[in-house]
Amino acid sequence: MRTLLEEIASEVCVCAKCPLSRSRMNAVPGDGPEDSRIIFVGEAPGREEDRQGLPFVGPAGRLLNDLLTQAGLRREDVFITNIIKCRPPQNRDPMPSEIEACHEYLVGQIAAIRPAVLCTLGSPALRTLVDPKLSIGRVHGTSQRRGGILYVPLYHPAAAIHNPSLRRTIIEDMAKVAPMLQQAQRL
Ligand code: URA
Ligand code: SF4
Repeated sequence: MRTLLEEIASEVCVCAKCPLSRSRMNAVPGDGPEDSRIIFVGEAPGREEDRQGLPFVGPAGRLLNDLLTQAGLRREDVFITNIIKCRPPQNRDPMPSEIEACHEYLVGQIAAIRPAVLCTLGSPALRTLVDPKLSIGRVHGTSQRRGGILYVPLYHPAAAIHNPSLRRTIIEDMAKVAPMLQQAQRL
């Protein structure tokens, strides 16, 4: 029997609900265990993700791996996905229509996993999942509870590649995630 998460992944891999299906090499449904207590949600697959069909396996992924390790989290224990599952040409920003078309997969994944903590990586994930009016510069590293999930907005790791002064902030914010998870699981 396939799990709900596997069902969603196989739908994503043949999805043609938006035009990104025509330019992708591989859809990138997401990766991680179904019983994960944390989900990380990024923006969209890049070149390397499109090639491999896996999330965060390029330069931003290497930095994410380092950030997780430094924060005492193991990548194998967390579920990682994006708000859209196919790479936009030239890594342009996702369009609202693409985010909308893809949203049911993300909602399905969150419902299947029922995480205690959901970390958004970057502004598009924050605005899609928490509140379109929020600014990542104001709310990074904070948390808010909704529907039994603690939402924690983080800067996108790629932001630290482009802006090294953000690196320390991202490290400090990520360090809060494991204690927040422990606290969320006690509630
Ligand atoms: N950036 C993202 O937002 N997601 C990925 O999967 C890779 C890079
Ligand atoms: Fe389907 Fe999402 Fe890919 Fe668009 S981005 S084709 S909605 S899986």
